[in-house]
Amino acid sequence: MSSKYRTITVTPLSPALGGEISGVDIAAGISDEQFAEMRRAFIDYGVIFLRDQDITPDQHVEFARRWGEINVNRFFHPVDAHPLIAEVRKEPKQKANIGSSWHTDHSYDQVPAMGSILYAREVPSVGGDTLFASMYAAYAALSDGMKQMLGSMNAEHSSRHAFGEVAYVETDLEDLGGRLGNTASATQDSVHPVVIRHPLSGKPALYVNGDFTVRFEGWSKAESQPLLDFLYAHASQHEFTCRFRWQQGSMAMWDNRATQHLALNDYHGERRVMHRITLEGVALGPATA
Ligand code: SIN
Repeated sequence: MSSKYRTITVTPLSPALGGEISGVDIAAGISDEQFAEMRRAFIDYGVIFLRDQDITPDQHVEFARRWGEINVNRFFHPVDAHPLIAEVRKEPKQKANIGSSWHTDHSYDQVPAMGSILYAREVPSVGGDTLFASMYAAYAALSDGMKQMLGSMNAEHSSRHAFGEVAYVETDLEDLGGRLGNTASATQDSVHPVVIRHPLSGKPALYVNGDFTVRFEGWSKAESQPLLDFLYAHASQHEFTCRFRWQQGSMAMWDNRATQHLALNDYHGERRVMHRITLEGVALGPATA
């Protein structure tokens, strides 16, 4: 339990990351001081959680706007009558879920999204937890030699293989029918430092992820893949993670530049419906600059 906050209480979920905030009721209104402390907790913990929030989609949008500009995801189905909110839904008859492997949202964009605010509307009786991993902890645990090499490297990221037509043909995305779409818009390519300086904390963080990173700049895919695979396995070690168990009315807000996340797909036959608002970020620079 941290005492550096006056208007909220933050309980860490694990030593690596994640803080559950209590003392906040979004529907009743958040004071400027509370908001400033939530923002500080977001920077300190990488991902923050709230429970028992009873909010409408409009209140979700209003809360998100307090953090910054909203980024509308190109591929997710929007919530009916709320085009700024993406729906993350799995129906009882569907097998695949959205986000089942470790990833960082929107790293394929040249200016990647800051993070997302995910709100639980309907959850399975058990299962459907979300795992988060700290990319600060992952970076810090690398050897000095690896840090030095990665510090001067960039990586290429893309949406093409993940959300384009090929993803529907070659992977299980067909089972996501009606929940992801717009394959023709999957044309984003970007290059980012492998180790970024976090724009809010100033700390170095590992910035490659299994869903969207394609290769290291100047390296072939065959050369890149063994080192990328090592980094993905390294970054998802249990001691760098925390795990959040959802209830209806729970909310998570994560920072894509400091974390990766994975939505567990262990609740077949039950429905899970989440509302996600993504926030605009800033261009990312290297930790070495
Ligand atoms: C996502 O990757 O945005 C989905 C996370 C979740 O459903 O828990």
